[in-house]
Amino acid sequence: MCVMAQVGETGGLTVVKTTCSDAEIATRSQRLADWWTAEGSKFVILFIYYAINVFLATWNGIKYKNAGANTWVQIARAGGLTLDFNCALIVLPMCRKLLGWMRATWLVQIIPFDSSIELHKLIAYNILLGSIIHTVGHFGNYASLPESFSFYLFQTNAGLTGFLIWVVIAIMYVGASERIRRGDTR
Ligand code: HEM
Repeated sequence: MCVMAQVGETGGLTVVKTTCSDAEIATRSQRLADWWTAEGSKFVILFIYYAINVFLATWNGIKYKNAGANTWVQIARAGGLTLDFNCALIVLPMCRKLLGWMRATWLVQIIPFDSSIELHKLIAYNILLGSIIHTVGHFGNYASLPESFSFYLFQTNAGLTGFLIWVVIAIMYVGASERIRRGDTR
């Protein structure tokens, strides 16, 4: 048990000293370690994940700005690089063998492997967000160019494949939704 005792006064403030038994300290550090394994590591990993996304978007946006691209292209490229990153990352949290192998190492102390499906879903939401930013950027750019909008969208390789990726995204995200997986098609 921890005991609090008044040990003096400075500048009108009471100075209190808390003394804990070794057992209590051990329980507290165990609780801190448990909290870290369950929650704390998630915060750190999320922070690093979002920091990388913000860095990539900013870096690519500035790169294209310096190259003389208009604001729409800068937006499209900012979103585009986060797509590169997130699309490469999304399968990792679902690689069972890899996770099983990593669980057997010291990494188990800092990575919340039990939340890997949540991470997979989070990355999926960010791919959706990146796709929206990327597409809005390209659409804005297409609208500012001399040819018609449909020319750029359907008669250029990048426009057409971008459109097709949206069709694939629609099928994948609807198919992955809770209701469809449960077979509830009402
Ligand atoms: C109709 C919507 C879309 C349009 C018009 C479009 C257009 C473009 C264009 C013009 C480029 C540049 C190609 C080059 O450098 O020659 C590009 C690159 C790229 N697009 Fe799209 N895109 C669309 C949707 C998407 C979606 C939904 C995704 C992924 C989920 C995607 C992923 C990428 C990636 C990863 C790149 C390379 C990175 C970059 O340079 O920004 N695009 N897209």
